[in-house]
Amino acid sequence: GRQFFVGGNFKMNGSVDTIKSIVNNLNQAKVDPNVEVVIAPPALYLLLAREHLRPGLEVAAQNVFDKPNGAFTGEISATQLKESNITWTLTGHSERRVILKETDDFIASKTKAALDNGLGVILCIGETLEQREANQTIDVVTNQLRAVAKQVQDWSKVVIAYEPVWAIGTGKVATTEQAQEVHAAIRQYLAKEVSQTASDNTRIIYGGSVSEKNCNELAKEKDIDGFLVGGASLKPAFVDIINAQS
Ligand code: 13P
Repeated sequence: GRQFFVGGNFKMNGSVDTIKSIVNNLNQAKVDPNVEVVIAPPALYLLLAREHLRPGLEVAAQNVFDKPNGAFTGEISATQLKESNITWTLTGHSERRVILKETDDFIASKTKAALDNGLGVILCIGETLEQREANQTIDVVTNQLRAVAKQVQDWSKVVIAYEPVWAIGTGKVATTEQAQEVHAAIRQYLAKEVSQTASDNTRIIYGGSVSEKNCNELAKEKDIDGFLVGGASLKPAFVDIINAQS
């Protein structure tokens, strides 16, 4: 079976004090040992989080660049993350796609660079409300995946986060049926265009207004292998989401 995976995306939130307190809270919490837990604080706090977080819990960057080093002001490379024991990175978050204008190909290139350097990647995909209403959801997510599949053959260190843009930060969580339908379509896409192994083994997690109230129902769906949590990952309730299956 696929190991349940819960990520906390802090986005541009937190301070030295609040990151320390979130980390201490996680260190002391009763966390289901069968769940893979990864937190993604802002870049400035990655080392602080890694230093204080107990072994077994992992730290992810929210972003990575696709070159190893050089004149790329403001960027951080996969080799730099790896060297600092930051073992995961997000790529393709909708806030980077929409606000920072990242393209499918750029996201694919970053995903490849991260994987080539031994990082795990939480690859975020998802449709806007407009695209959903135009019945383009499956086309949108498969196109986002196809750009990555052109550059990446080995998906064993990729976790796919399906995050419908209309559900992010809105309190409008996808229904279990809506989420399961897209997760199943993603798995089908992997079987058809990547490999049966990738389809069977790749964790597909859901993100968008996940809370301690809605996580248990979502976690029961057969193709939902965990969550990527935004707002609630900053709160003690994050632990309940980690333990959604137990
Ligand atoms: P919220 O959980 O705040 O809706 O954010 C989801 C998200 O974007 C996680 O990456």
